[in-house]
Amino acid sequence: MTKPPLTLYLAAPRGFCAGVDRAIKIVEMALQKWGAPVYVRHEIVHNKFVVDGLRAKGAIFVDELEDCPDDRPVIFSAHGVPKSIPATAAQRQMVYVDATCPLVSKVHVEAQRHAEAGLQMIMIGHKGHPETIGTMGQLPEGEVLLVETVADVADVQVRDPDKLAFVTQTTLSVDDTKDIIAALQTRFPSIVGPHKEDICYATTNRQEAVKVVARKSDALLVVGAPNSSNSRRLVEVAARAGCSYAQLVQRATDIDWRALEGISSIALTAGASAPEVLINEVIDAFRQHYDVTVEMVETATENVEFKVPRVLRQPA
Ligand code: F3S
Repeated sequence: MTKPPLTLYLAAPRGFCAGVDRAIKIVEMALQKWGAPVYVRHEIVHNKFVVDGLRAKGAIFVDELEDCPDDRPVIFSAHGVPKSIPATAAQRQMVYVDATCPLVSKVHVEAQRHAEAGLQMIMIGHKGHPETIGTMGQLPEGEVLLVETVADVADVQVRDPDKLAFVTQTTLSVDDTKDIIAALQTRFPSIVGPHKEDICYATTNRQEAVKVVARKSDALLVVGAPNSSNSRRLVEVAARAGCSYAQLVQRATDIDWRALEGISSIALTAGASAPEVLINEVIDAFRQHYDVTVEMVETATENVEFKVPRVLRQPA
C-alpha cells in the first residue's frame, strides 16, 4: 500500500538547552566521581526518559533533602532551589552540587540585589513550579509577591508602590509576559525590572521557531513532558499562531493517529528538556505511516554552553 505524502517541518532550535545539558552532565560526572548512589533532589530536568536513564546509572531521585543520607552526594535540579536547601545541606555537612541553570541563578541574584536596595519583589511565574519556588525562596517567606496573569496585577497588595521591582520565570510565554509587564508598569510606573524580561534565550528561540512552523503546518507536535513549563508554552504559542491541532507528546506512543488523519504537513519541535532521541523516535513513527519529506526550518542558531561546577572538574 502506498503511503500518503507528508511534509514534516522540523523546528530549529528545539530540544536540549545549555542549562539542561549541563545539569545532566553534572549528574553523570558526579556518578563517575563519587560512584553510585548519588542523590538528586527533584527531577534533574523535567523529562522521564532522561530521569529513568540516570536512575539506571545509579542516581536516586528524591522529593526532599530529608530523604537523602548525610554521607552521599546530593545534586539540586536545574530549576533552582530556595536558599534554605543548600544552607541545610551545608549544616548537615553533606557534599552537594548545585545544577541550577546559570540563567536561573542570574534571576536569583537580581531578586536579592533589588531586595537589598529596599525594593519589594514581584515575581511573574507559575505557582508551584520548582523554579518559582526556588526564586521566591531566595528571600524570606512572604517577601516575594507572585503574579501569574494580567488579572493578578490588579489585586496585588504592595507595601509601597514606588519601591517595587520584578523578576520573571525563565520559561514563560514571551507574549503573555509582555502583557503582564505592561500591566505592572501601568499600575506601578516606577517599578524596576530587567532590561527585557528574564525569559531565557532557549525559551525565546523555541517559541519563535514554533510560530514559524505552526503557520506552515496542518498540525504540530511538541515532544516534552506535561510538567515541563517551556514545553507546555510551545503548545500554547503554536495554538495562538493559528495551528488548529497542537499537542504535547512524551514519546511516539502518545501520537493520536486518528486525530491526524487527512493532514499533508506536520510541524515538530521539542521542549528544552526533551532529548533528540525522542524526536527521532517520533519522526520514525511518522515514516511508518507516511511518505515523509523532512524540511528543517531554522530561525536561530545557538552556541551557548555552560561549564560544570569546579568540584566536578577536579579529580576525586
Ligand atoms: Fe536554563 Fe533556559 Fe534551559 S533557564 S535550563 S537555558 S530553558
